Amino acid sequence: MNSPANIVKVPSGKVALVTGGSRGIGAATALRLAREGADVVVTYVNGKEAAEDVVRAVEALGRRAVALRADAADAEEAAGAVTGAVRALGRLDVLVNNAGVGVLGPVETLSLTDVDRVLAVNVRGAFLTSQAAASHMTDGGRIITVGTCMTQRVPGPGGTLYAMSKAALVGLTKALARELGGRGITANIVHPGPIDTGMNPADGPHGPAQAAMTAVGRFGTADEVAAMIAHLAGASYVTGAEFSVDGGHAA
Ligand SMILES: NC(=O)c1ccc[n+]([C@@H]2O[C@H](COP(=O)([O-])OP(=O)(O)OC[C@H]3O[C@@H](n4cnc5c(N)ncnc54)[C@H](OP(=O)(O)O)[C@@H]3O)[C@@H](O)[C@H]2O)c1
Repeated sequence: MNSPANIVKVPSGKVALVTGGSRGIGAATALRLAREGADVVVTYVNGKEAAEDVVRAVEALGRRAVALRADAADAEEAAGAVTGAVRALGRLDVLVNNAGVGVLGPVETLSLTDVDRVLAVNVRGAFLTSQAAASHMTDGGRIITVGTCMTQRVPGPGGTLYAMSKAALVGLTKALARELGGRGITANIVHPGPIDTGMNPADGPHGPAQAAMTAVGRFGTADEVAAMIAHLAGASYVTGAEFSVDGGHAA
């Protein structure tokens, strides 16, 4: 059925927090949400200038924007991103748990430091930020988490730690949907395939092999992932669900 009610957009004036919003999928998401009328807070760790560029680009669209330094691996800062966003822009309606790191390699070679780092950023950080959002988010809010296509299909060796960390986010998402649904807060997870960003450049050594693993034979763009996130930011009757934006990687 094609009624206007089925066309979802982020209502204007909402405030979105995008973790890891200084570049890549996070930056594209911040701009997409701003284009749809949201004010945006982005977090960063090293990319202060890049985050400030995102702020200026959002402001050029006529929306408010703030960049906060908040390391998802630090427990206080992971939660503090939420309180900082509320302090800066007055409320929180949309959380995008995007900050993430990948350490790939043979399982025998991964160090305890690798394990702790990946779990701290990808899992504990997302949990603590979501936990703070549960306390501070408006009813009817949205939590959208960025997973990976490797939770759906692991195409080869080297992904144990990264896939394990992102699989935890599926459990977090479904449980949050159940826990917060009574307040009209939805929680969903988006699984990108190979996306051309600093983390995974299409022209990197493994680019052609990754492109060949998709049905469409190419990398995706950060904008293509941002479009799905923006859709979920507007959707009120979609929750606890997983969405692949992977060019058919899992097909
Ligand atoms: N690219 C892909 O092929 C792909 C595929 C599947 C899933 N993903 C997921 O998509 C998300 C975004 O990836 P991307 O490709 O856009 O990566 P990216 O280009 O490397 O960007 C990562 C972003 O996360 C931030 N970040 C890194 N560590 C952080 C931390 N400890 N605390 C807060 N922010 C942190 C970075 O900020 P600074 O630059 O300021 O440090 C940057 O803004 C990640 O969760 C990733 O696992 C990516």
